[in-house]
Amino acid sequence: MHLLRTLLLAGLSSLAEASLQVVPGATWTTSNNEHLQAHGGGLIKVDGLYYLVGEDKTNGSAFQNVNCYSSPDLVQWTYVGALLTRGASGDLGPNRVVERPKVLFNKSTGKYVLYMHIDSSNYGDAKVGVATGDTVCGSYSYRGSFRPLSHQSRDMGLFADDDGTGYLLSEDRENGLRIMKLSADYLNVTESTYLWGDSIEAPALLKLNGRYYMFGSKLTGWDPNDNVYSTSTSLTSGWSAWATFADAGSNTYTSQTNFVLPVGSSAAIYLGDRWKSSNLMTSTYVWLPLTISGTSVKMANAESWVPNLSTTSSSASTAKPAETAYEGEAAKYGGQARSVSCSGCSGGTAAGYVGGPDAGTVTFSGIRSDAAAKSTIRIRYANGDSSPRYAGVRVNGAAAKKVAFLPTGGSVSASTLHVDLKAGSTNEVVIEGINGGWAPDIDRLIVPVS
Ligand SMILES: *[C@@H]1O[C@H](CO)[C@@H](O)[C@H](O)[C@H]1NC(C)=O
Ligand SMILES: *[C@@H]1O[C@H](CO)[C@@H](O)[C@H](O)[C@H]1NC(C)=O
Ligand SMILES: *[C@@H]1O[C@H](CO)[C@@H](O)[C@H](O)[C@H]1NC(C)=O
Ligand SMILES: *[C@@H]1O[C@H](CO)[C@@H](O)[C@H](O)[C@H]1NC(C)=O
Repeated sequence: MHLLRTLLLAGLSSLAEASLQVVPGATWTTSNNEHLQAHGGGLIKVDGLYYLVGEDKTNGSAFQNVNCYSSPDLVQWTYVGALLTRGASGDLGPNRVVERPKVLFNKSTGKYVLYMHIDSSNYGDAKVGVATGDTVCGSYSYRGSFRPLSHQSRDMGLFADDDGTGYLLSEDRENGLRIMKLSADYLNVTESTYLWGDSIEAPALLKLNGRYYMFGSKLTGWDPNDNVYSTSTSLTSGWSAWATFADAGSNTYTSQTNFVLPVGSSAAIYLGDRWKSSNLMTSTYVWLPLTISGTSVKMANAESWVPNLSTTSSSASTAKPAETAYEGEAAKYGGQARSVSCSGCSGGTAAGYVGGPDAGTVTFSGIRSDAAAKSTIRIRYANGDSSPRYAGVRVNGAAAKKVAFLPTGGSVSASTLHVDLKAGSTNEVVIEGINGGWAPDIDRLIVPVS
């Protein structure tokens, strides 16, 4: 296991030319061929791998699973399994709310401790639940729920300070946003460390160079707002007034704070949720690098970006490579595939009738990459259905990879594909249906050149 993991990591890091990208708001297909279901989730790094623990919204808002995925690079995600799954009754029974799961590791006890918001379907319980596990992505034992120090607790986060002291971040609707100290074993809450008397939810706490940054959102339900941060060099006092960090009026690029990942000692990544309240399983992820300097935190929007997870990096992103776009309607059609009008697509046209009973295909040839590299291709598409469509995508003759495409309503979105490209202009991408199903309409491929 460890040998395999070492080889895997060595293999990945030797791909110096890798051009893997985070694409905010896109469909992220994971190893189980479905869109990533880890909403409201937390990240924890163990033995060189990132683990993302979040909510499975496949069947809507009621609790189904707390899922766990792993990745070496924050881009390619492997579905590992569920840490907790729905039971017959109780906190984890039918029609329950289990949100914002987060994990801390306690070195002394050797236990992974999972906290989550536990509630009834009308949000009247307002508690935290605690579970423990022996491995980060294995099964966890649920230990029960409580109101921390008897206060209401809805959106929550966790934070471990440099000295190992754990903290619960908790939205207490009656009083404000709290930081609360955890007991040494992390299983209980022992004291209230700080209280903002402001209505802020979705808390995430970051520490860089001895300074703390608390991020959060205003209270607008599933709808996004301009999220804010406050900073101090002490957890107990000196917190600055809340200020926005994304472009004002952008509603945090249509997202809500969920987690902030430090990268080394001077860089960090914002992990937000773009909730789709009408169909929660189609909610996506807005992850962007933060620019932090002293008390100042800024976040620019990006259609896509290349993470740099080097701990000595002063920025969590690397300059993006040049890209080439290949139009669906300019590609070669097979079966009954043909051009269709598509209002949000470039040129108002897309490749349609891909898949289906006549097995329509669309073949993009002559795709250029200046290096042999694992690269992220963005497939711009339209899917007017209310559930995902799927396509088989064959790159350079390899076996088809099943890719998911979330509903796009009347507009156009992207789905990501991480594939090995050859150096030169002879790469080929074929998109086809799966088992007679319809693939989405294909607007275009956007491919990194270098
Ligand atoms: C969703 O619901 C269907 C139908 O009840 C069930 O078969 C499936 O296991 C559920 N999936 C998840 C991930 O909850
Ligand atoms: C883990 O739990 C023990 C108590 O069992 C405690 O002494 C220790 O400080 C905790 N924290 C960490 C980070 O190990
Ligand atoms: C948790 O901590 C609270 C506050 O210190 C205390 O009243 C309670 O008894 C503790 N619960 C357990 C199970 O130790
Ligand atoms: C990532 O950051 C490190 C440290 O600053 C730097 O040496 C390296 O060149 C960066 N990687 C890329 C691909 O830019």
